[in-house]
Amino acid sequence: MIPKDTIQSILDAARIDEVVGDFVQLKRRGVNLLGLCPFHNEKTPSFTVSPAKGIFKCFGCGKAGNAVNFVMEHEKYSYPEALRYLANKYGIEIEEQEPSPEEKQLESDRDSLFSINDFARKFYTNTLFNSDEGKAIGLSYFLERGFREDIIRKFQLGFSPTAWDSFTKTALQNGYSEKYLVDSGLTISKDGKFYDRFRERVMFPIHNLTGKVIGFGGRILTSDKTKPKYVNSPESEIYNKSKSLYGIWLARSSIVARDNCYLVEGYTDVISLHQSGIENVVASSGTSLTTDQIRLIRKFTPNITILYDGDPAGIKASFRGIDMILEQGMNVKVVLFPDGEDPDSYARKHSSSDLDAFIATHADDFIAFKTRLLLDETKNDPIKKAGLIHEIIQTISLIPDPIIRPLYVRECSEIMQIAEQTLMNELNRLLRKKKLKGIDAEVQEQLPETPPVALPQEPAIDLTDCSAQEFDIVRLLLCYGNQEMVIEQPEPEEPAAPAEPLRIKVAGYICNDLRENQIAFDSPLYQRIFDEFAKGVDEDSLPDERFFTMNEDQELAALSIDVLSPKYELSPGWEEIRIYVPAETDKLEETVSRAILSLINRKLTVMILENHKAMKELPKESEAWTDLLSRDIFLKQTRNEISRRLGRILNG
Ligand code: UTP
Ligand code: MN
Repeated sequence: MIPKDTIQSILDAARIDEVVGDFVQLKRRGVNLLGLCPFHNEKTPSFTVSPAKGIFKCFGCGKAGNAVNFVMEHEKYSYPEALRYLANKYGIEIEEQEPSPEEKQLESDRDSLFSINDFARKFYTNTLFNSDEGKAIGLSYFLERGFREDIIRKFQLGFSPTAWDSFTKTALQNGYSEKYLVDSGLTISKDGKFYDRFRERVMFPIHNLTGKVIGFGGRILTSDKTKPKYVNSPESEIYNKSKSLYGIWLARSSIVARDNCYLVEGYTDVISLHQSGIENVVASSGTSLTTDQIRLIRKFTPNITILYDGDPAGIKASFRGIDMILEQGMNVKVVLFPDGEDPDSYARKHSSSDLDAFIATHADDFIAFKTRLLLDETKNDPIKKAGLIHEIIQTISLIPDPIIRPLYVRECSEIMQIAEQTLMNELNRLLRKKKLKGIDAEVQEQLPETPPVALPQEPAIDLTDCSAQEFDIVRLLLCYGNQEMVIEQPEPEEPAAPAEPLRIKVAGYICNDLRENQIAFDSPLYQRIFDEFAKGVDEDSLPDERFFTMNEDQELAALSIDVLSPKYELSPGWEEIRIYVPAETDKLEETVSRAILSLINRKLTVMILENHKAMKELPKESEAWTDLLSRDIFLKQTRNEISRRLGRILNG
């Protein structure tokens, strides 16, 4: 838990231009900064940052927010994670609130495991680069494979010594406890003795999303067939195989930027692709893909491209896993490498642009790919072909989006040369069956319901709802509160003494006027914003835009960001937005007066209605009733006057 006042100091410290600038190259453009949007692909910059307002806004994809939102969106962090990131960037210490004893124990167990894994990583890297055996066996192996040194360091590769207990001994000497050595799986305890799990292997650390080491894979270097090619860390409090993906910490930003995730089989495929400059790649590490891993990818992109080596048995074995990806509503493409090649070997033989081009031209839609592959096998055997239809339709039925399913049916009908309607019937039959059996709640939800017969209704105007008018006031305060407006004084009687036009800040005008008229807001959020401005007016120091966009109250911040980031823009360069609302800013006084009068008008209507209701409860002609009647007359007179003034403004 981060204490409240710390949250506010983090928000106060965070500068949107600095935070964004760590990820996006920004150029000054007037009072704003401009760059290429990191959230969608674009060639001409439309991503605008306003240091004054503390917000960013992309006029291409419409994303907008403050510094915290940017970090959350860009790094896919939760709100607290984003705050921690910013705290770290600005050197703000977070004094966490006390966790419970159980939480503490779990936390310290996890910390100890992270710590021992980090120690092991350094130990193996050190052995690789600095020991005779590491250099002679491990490093020479990597270099022979064609791994560059910078890549070896980037992936923090290492070497485990041949001796039985080198690592365990060193760790114990450095104060690491036997318990965590064993829990992490780095050390195996047998008959009261300790020895290293990894011996004489090149080491591939496995990292979590934030780059902490959670486990290792160790590859054998001899051709001893009695030993496994890879030894991997067992699962632990911090390493859950089915939830981690090799390489995700280095791939995440590239996956977002390219809106696609390449999925390969092994550690070495990931590393080789990185070496050729392709970074949006992860490996499921030999095991079949799990739903958790798919969800992890889906945090960053809905698009997966699976890079296969040309082994048909392996491909067919993977189909079940791919069905799961489809079920998650993701788009799956596959690339088949030529016989005998895998992404690793292909990357080593070709330039990165060749590799990119190969992937681009060979990426095939998964369902079409599967259809073709299975069709090849049926060789016009009608019975087999019937089985194929069933299998493909089964796969299509997993796609949650009811709009996409028919598109696949069409494509497959062309590939298989089978009438679209036949396939469609089969699909519907399957979906119905699933619905009946209730096998798949998710698919069931997606089945089109009988459409509701209700006709679209015009929403009735609710005369007691002031939210639109209240919002308009808040919008004007946030957008123009600090601007001065000029109020022309009425023509003087004597031309000799012309009245000076009155200059007053928008916030001053609005706050004083509404307070004089004792107007309160129905919405607590709007009231808060108004109160902040009213306080600023009294103390003669108005809150700036950042005060609102970076407010600790997330609801308040979200509203201010929404108001302060212009909705529409025709050309990039934010300040030009003003062009599209000339009437509003040119005649600020009119705009402000109209908003105030509209709000008062609506509030008066509410009062009149309430008054009527109260009158109905009272005996006619009673004293109280007569009081309310005169109130009614007064309210109506006032409202007429307001309406008259409003009409004068509206009709120019
Ligand atoms: P590969 O045999 O393709 O290994 O297994 P590789 O990483 O590409 O290694 P090279 O290129 O032959 O040197 C793919 C993945 O399956 C897992 C590993 O994660 C490996 O990267 N695997 C394989 C194991 O966990 N244990 C094994 O015994 C074999
Ligand atoms: Mn390989």
